[in-house]
Order: sequence, then structure tokens, then C-alpha cells
Amino acid sequence: MKSIVVVGAQWGDEGKGKVVDFLAGSFDYIARCAGGHNAGHTVIFNGKRFVLQLIPCGILRPGKHAVIGSGVVVDPAALVAELDTLAKAGIDITGRLHLSTRAHLIFPYHRQMEKAAEAARGAGKIGTTSRGIGPAYEDKMARHGIRVGDLFDAARFREKLDRVISEKDAVCRATYGVPLDTAGLADQYLAYAERLRPLVADASELINSALDAGHSVLFEGAQGTMLDIDFGTYPYVTSSNAISGGACTGLGVGPTRINGVAGVTKAYTTRVGSGPFPTEMPDLEATEVRDRGKEYGAVTGRPRRCGWLDLAVLRYAVRINGISSLVVTKLDVFDTQKEIQVCTGYRYKGSPVKGMPASAEELAEVTPEYRSLPGWQSDTFGVQSAEKLPRAALDYLKYISDFLDVEIGMISTGPDRDATIVCAGTQLAKWI
Ligand code: GDP
Ligand code: IMO
Ligand code: MG
Repeated sequence: MKSIVVVGAQWGDEGKGKVVDFLAGSFDYIARCAGGHNAGHTVIFNGKRFVLQLIPCGILRPGKHAVIGSGVVVDPAALVAELDTLAKAGIDITGRLHLSTRAHLIFPYHRQMEKAAEAARGAGKIGTTSRGIGPAYEDKMARHGIRVGDLFDAARFREKLDRVISEKDAVCRATYGVPLDTAGLADQYLAYAERLRPLVADASELINSALDAGHSVLFEGAQGTMLDIDFGTYPYVTSSNAISGGACTGLGVGPTRINGVAGVTKAYTTRVGSGPFPTEMPDLEATEVRDRGKEYGAVTGRPRRCGWLDLAVLRYAVRINGISSLVVTKLDVFDTQKEIQVCTGYRYKGSPVKGMPASAEELAEVTPEYRSLPGWQSDTFGVQSAEKLPRAALDYLKYISDFLDVEIGMISTGPDRDATIVCAGTQLAKWI
């Protein structure tokens, strides 16, 4: 039995798509457990580029199974659009894509309410992806969500939707002064249902039976540790459990069935949207890294905020997720960097900070302490073996690994599937 979680160790966009795609070659099932189409996972191989939002990256590997678990919130319009994109690219998903009957649905009114809520927050806005993610999870927790399985009994679906709409319309008018726009919604969703019907499954049963039969499972995390609803920089977070534990709750798989956790981190840090970011670079430096790393949102196109690697964040991520192996991506982005700063801890009001502040306000006021390491100023783009990396790059990676006391199992030196180094003798190498 081989079952591994790939989790973002920072604020998302660490390169999970690239890493999952690489590892997927060695796994039978690839499963998403949380988030929705706020995720954007980029995969590049054979000159083709895909950005997957809801469908696990494993779908791009012939013969592999891809599972969307009950912890995911699903906008059927987004899912159908993604199915169309895959079909156009000649990728046959027949019998390989499975959608949990328990996953909650996103409706257009979720986006409408999110837009109104973000506007009402003014300067304190979260800077969400505007996909309706938060309001859909709110409905789930408030116990008036509508789930994938509800789509397949038309009369019951209409009844549930009518009830929710009348309640939401009243709330929306009272709170934001706008009515809900819901004309033709039930018919539209019942039409999507016909596209989705062949995919629907009991995802928990599917994954557990696969494990029983000796198949291997890769859990594809979305977002990142610092965006987790419980452990991230609350309230500047997403509305789901993005940490490794989300694999258990979002797919109905027991913790005893998971053998390892790979934490993905960039060689630096990025963040999209609002919220504290202690190691954020000053404008000019950030612009350079943003250009070299092409740091623009895969989903929204927004420029990503850029900063130095933050080992306080990574140490926290190692603890919260139980990371057994680190994957460092985008090493090549530092190829021209003369000097590299690494944050080794924070001070708050002059005193050293132990652990990670729970308060976003406090985290926004910490002063990072940096260690400066020499850059390598040579080309690592596309390098496929550790021996070919310059000494200073190896030293940088060793510094990270020693500081965190976790192995670095894999290094990424470019966006392409082949631009990957698997570190010999590591735990991660054994999973492949
Ligand atoms: P995800 O959300 O974690 O899957 O990451 P995204 O796909 O949103 O963002 C990562 C970006 O970095 C994508 O454009 C990838 O193609 C790119 N990328 C991934 N690994 C590397 C790498 O090692 N080097 C470079 N230069 N780009 C990379
Ligand atoms: P992947 O899987 C980076 C951020 C948004 C915003 C906050 C809340 O590609 O790494 P939401 O729409 O989820 O309510 O927005 O979370 N965010 C992400 N940032 N990568 C992601 O996913 C993200 N998903 C959400 O920018 O700050
Ligand atoms: Mg992304």
C-alpha cells in the first residue's frame, strides 16, 4: 500500500501541479480533497501546457484514475468547462474520472454573495478568487448546502434549491440591498447533471477499496498551509482545510492509511491576495523575482506578491502537516541572484517569537531575521541531476534541510515535467 499526500507548505502556487504530475507516473489514483476552482495547477510536458482547477492532475497520465473528493466544492459550470478543455486536447477520461456524490455544489449566488461581502469589507478585503468558494463552504457548515448527489432527483433538487434561494434572497436584500439573480438556475443545473452523471461515485469507498486491492494513491493538495482555515493566517485564508489532514476529512480515508507527506515549497515565497507576509520583498526586488518566476496567478492573472524563503513558515508547515519529505521548486529563478536572504525567525516588539503567531495582526508586525547566503549565478534551468547543480545551490538546499531537519526529496529546476531532480537515497525516491 502506497499513499502519499502532496501539500503546499506556503501560501499556495508552490508548484504542486508540476510535482503531482511528475509523481503521478508512479501512482494509480490521484485525488483532490479540498478547495475548488480557486486552485490553478499548472502542468507542462511535451510542449503542452494545462492549468487544472478541479480535476486532479493525474488525469493527464493515460490509464490513471482521478478522484474529486467530498471535501471539494464543485462549480458544475467550471467542471464541465474543464471536461471540454480535456476533450479538445484529446484526453479520454472515460471510466477514469470520479466525482464524490457528497461534494457540495457552488451556485452563481455564492459568487454574487462573495462579491457583495468583499465589497462590504472595504480595505479589509481578503482578496479572494471570486469563485464563490467561501460562501459555498459557509452553506455546507450551516447545513443548507446542496450536494452533487442531490442533482439526480429532479423534483427533490428543485424543492431544495427553492428553499435555499428564498432564504438567501431575503438575506442578500437585507444585508447588501441587492436581490439574488436565480432565473433558470434549476434547469441549468439539471442539464449539467446529465454531463456529470457518469462520473458520480462514493469517493471514499473507491479510494479505500483501491488501497485494499494494493493500488497506490496520491492526494493532491490545493492552496497551502498558510491558507488553511484553521492554521493559516486567519482571516486571510481560504475556507477549507488545505493541510495534509484535509486528505482524511475530504476523502474519507483514515490517517492510518497514509504513509507519507511531501511538502512543496518554492526556493522563495509568494502570496496572492491580502494578509500578512513577513518576508515580502521591497517593490523593485519583488518585480525582478516576479518576472523571472512568471509570478502571475494561474487562475486570476493577478501579480503574486514575492518574498524571501521563510523558514519560520516552513518549520510550522512541517509540524502541522507532518511533512516527511520536502520538494523545492523554482530553484532556477534564483540563477542570477547575487545574494539570497533566508528568514530564520521573527522578532515581535523586540523579543524573539516562538512558533507561529496565531494573530494576523501580530504576524503583520513581526520583524524577520535573515541569514544571507551566496547565490550561484549560473544556469540551473532544466538540470536533471543533483551532481550538476552548482555548489552554492547545493549549499542553499542543505541549509534549508538542516534547519528544518527534513530531507529534500525532490528539486524542480523548470516548469517542464522533465526539469526535475529526484534525490537519491531519500524517502521520496522510494515512493517513485
Ligand atoms: P500550484 O498551484 O502549486 O500547482 O502552482 P501554480 O501552477 O499555480 O504555479 C506554479 C508556477 O510555476 C507554474 O507556472 C509552473 O509552471 C511554474 N513552475 C513550477 N515549477 C517550476 C520550476 O521549478 N521552475 C520554474 N521556472 N517554474 C516552475
Ligand atoms: P493553488 O491550489 C494561491 C487565496 C486567494 C485569497 C484567499 C481566499 O493554485 O495553490 P478564496 O477564493 O479561496 O476564498 O480566496 O486564498 N487562494 C490561493 N492562493 N493559490 C491557490 O490555490 C489559492 N486558492 C486560494 O488569493 O487570498
Ligand atoms: Mg496555483
